[in-house]
Amino acid sequence: MRTIAYEQQGDAARVLRLQEWPAPAAPTAGQVLVRVLSRPIHPGDLAGVEGFPGLPRKRSTTPQVPGLEGTGVVEAVGEGVPGLKVGQRVAFFPVPGAWSEIVTVPAELVVPVPERVSAETAALLLVNPITLLTLLRAVEDAQKGQPGPVVQTAAGSSIGKLVSAAALRHGFPLVNLVRSAAGARESQRRFPELPAISTSDADWSTQVRDAVGGQGARVVLDAVGGSLTGELAALLADGGTLISYGALGSGTTPLESLALVPRELTVRGVSVGRWLTRTPAERAEDVAFALGLAETSPELFEVAGRYDLADFAEAVDHVRRPGKSGTVLLTSPAS
Ligand SMILES: NC(=O)c1ccc[n+]([C@@H]2O[C@H](COP(=O)([O-])OP(=O)(O)OC[C@H]3O[C@@H](n4cnc5c(N)ncnc54)[C@H](OP(=O)(O)O)[C@@H]3O)[C@@H](O)[C@H]2O)c1
Repeated sequence: MRTIAYEQQGDAARVLRLQEWPAPAAPTAGQVLVRVLSRPIHPGDLAGVEGFPGLPRKRSTTPQVPGLEGTGVVEAVGEGVPGLKVGQRVAFFPVPGAWSEIVTVPAELVVPVPERVSAETAALLLVNPITLLTLLRAVEDAQKGQPGPVVQTAAGSSIGKLVSAAALRHGFPLVNLVRSAAGARESQRRFPELPAISTSDADWSTQVRDAVGGQGARVVLDAVGGSLTGELAALLADGGTLISYGALGSGTTPLESLALVPRELTVRGVSVGRWLTRTPAERAEDVAFALGLAETSPELFEVAGRYDLADFAEAVDHVRRPGKSGTVLLTSPAS
């Protein structure tokens, strides 16, 4: 089977290689083999390949295969796995090695895909909706029962659009920040009820302050970080919370410059990587939410482009293209 692997963390275009590997062994009890037909390239997958800011770069003695999410069909079922059969359409997360043609998946991480959900939506079924839930829980914690305005960065991202849709559904005030005038126009077109402001405007922070009102924002949901962090923290009301969940930006901001102490600000990191710490019952609720969203709002599972595994370098290039809308998929044939 084909797989994409790397040994030393570094620039994805340089360290990733397409390789031919033996298929995994037959599944043991409680496992399922899945032939993966499609898997997303999430920014977090590339951070795994390239190293996350703040963590030392890793060198592994064995090849590492990126990817934690995918969809495909069941190829073989181990003993003691009720309710799954060969040929069934499924999705999975979090399963390391999704950028392979066949993966071994613990049965409890396999989600049967209903007929009403398209193959492309199934490829994006889990990570983004579960990230949305993780962010909404963090916002709720930060609000401490006193709802107030929320500002989000990278509002044009797949996650950002889910957050916008959730704000409209739940009625919390949200201001969308993007990095270009074109991005602001697009955000306004999709979500006309929500203010959209571009950080390319010289007076963007004044515009945000006007939009959130005199008190400032209660929460900033931030996927950019870097040198923008100080300006984002300055938008918060005293006692507010900056929730960091991505590192798309560049540069750094010293913690000391944020006036955390006099303003009693909170800075909190959030990662979907902790999802397995939720109980099985809680995870089942999250999966049910994801399935419901996939069925009712497939437009929130937008695909930016599809590339065969062999064309991974072009796919990675597409992920980084400014103005991209949706998530890039890596595909492989059904047999
Ligand atoms: N913590 C977690 O558990 C978790 C889980 C999932 C995703 N994430 C993070 O969430 C973020 C969005 O992920 P996604 O899959 O939704 O992304 P995506 O659909 O690929 O979209 C990326 C977006 O980021 C914007 N962007 C890229 N570089 C930027 C920069 N330097 N400054 C400002 N905006 C920038 C792009 O804007 P343009 O339209 O202008 O190009 C685009 O709208 C990523 O940081 C990802 O790592 C975190």
